Amino acid sequence: MVNVAVLGYGTVGSGVVEVLNTNKEIIKRNVGEELKVKYVLDLREFEGDPVQEMLVHDYDVILKDKDVKIIAEAMGGEEPAYTFTKNALLAGKSVCTSNKELVAKHGAELLAIAKKNNANYFFEAAVGGGIPIIRPLNDCLTADEITEISGILNGTTNYILTQMSEKGAAFEEVLKDAQDKGYAERNPEADVEGYDACRKIAILTSLVTGKQVDFEDIHTEGISKITETDFKYAKAMKASIKLLGISRKIDGKFYSMVAPFLVKSKNPLYSVKGVFNGILVHGNMVDDVMFYGQGAGKRPTASAVVSDIVEAAKNLGKNIPVEWEETKYELGKFSECKGKFFVRMKDKGLDDEEMTTLFEKLGEVLYVRAEGVTGEVAFITNEIKEVELTELLSKFEDVYSIIRVDF
Ligand code: HSE
Repeated sequence: MVNVAVLGYGTVGSGVVEVLNTNKEIIKRNVGEELKVKYVLDLREFEGDPVQEMLVHDYDVILKDKDVKIIAEAMGGEEPAYTFTKNALLAGKSVCTSNKELVAKHGAELLAIAKKNNANYFFEAAVGGGIPIIRPLNDCLTADEITEISGILNGTTNYILTQMSEKGAAFEEVLKDAQDKGYAERNPEADVEGYDACRKIAILTSLVTGKQVDFEDIHTEGISKITETDFKYAKAMKASIKLLGISRKIDGKFYSMVAPFLVKSKNPLYSVKGVFNGILVHGNMVDDVMFYGQGAGKRPTASAVVSDIVEAAKNLGKNIPVEWEETKYELGKFSECKGKFFVRMKDKGLDDEEMTTLFEKLGEVLYVRAEGVTGEVAFITNEIKEVELTELLSKFEDVYSIIRVDF
């Protein structure tokens, strides 16, 4: 029997206990022996819940118990999760987590500590919830040079954008509906401003480069400025608007960003709707590989944490190497990224000198019209550098939208 402790009995922690109980026999067959939850750490009491029998309030009880070999960290946030994880690994216990903040910030360091102590630090649930993406990157796509990862990495924003697209509704209205349904937090900033997706693409890019990609270095834009009018144009172009986390290798260097993109139906991410996530990986040999599933939610996320517990239980006392050094990876400069952009701005008329100069400098553009929208001009540029477009448009006060295009 392998003893497990669960830190935090919130959504994910209680899900971990549920998965371990519900699928006890299948998990036993996969591990070769039974997994038993010996402790659950939480500050609260859970009178009437069977978890009460295993509940402890003092982490030291778990840390000092030599019978506990694996810890599921489902606390979230940086502290005390960081200290608890570090001490567990130093004691030779493996830690499995869904905590993307911690993994993005301290992943490399915690992996190194795990290695030194013949333990494992696993974080399948930190990116894409229930979607297997971390282990496939580490163990399966090892024959390829990965040249691109692009993904819908946040369920909340994908739900909001899908509703805006299908119902023609405004961002604020859909956000409120998402909050009422429990798909968005009361404080939705981390999701809607792209910070959550940013940490996830930072983790994926660290794994692909083998070095530390700091999430602070990734240009991040959220979806709060996307309007119903943007979706009218998207519809006219038979496209959708998706919040993508992208890392693309150009001339030997990765460029990363999180931003809303116009995506057409030939891109497999176009069909990823609602709370679902999709991650597209491009390898130089395997070509495109797509991962799709539920990126959040109690059971999918807990399923991924428990799959890590199974892997840890099958490898007790043995470190599975993960290439992710603490050395910083220098991402390519965002301002140098080239792409096509959808731009909406006030139509000052063909005689306007500044407009004439703008279109001369942009060269040929593709004009777009949307039903019922007047008084503005909308177009898609040719490939142009971020910095160059910003400079050209800085002269105009009434630029309503700039959305990158990923056709
Ligand atoms: N708020 C996140 C999402 C949860 O919507 O995807 C999973 O990280």
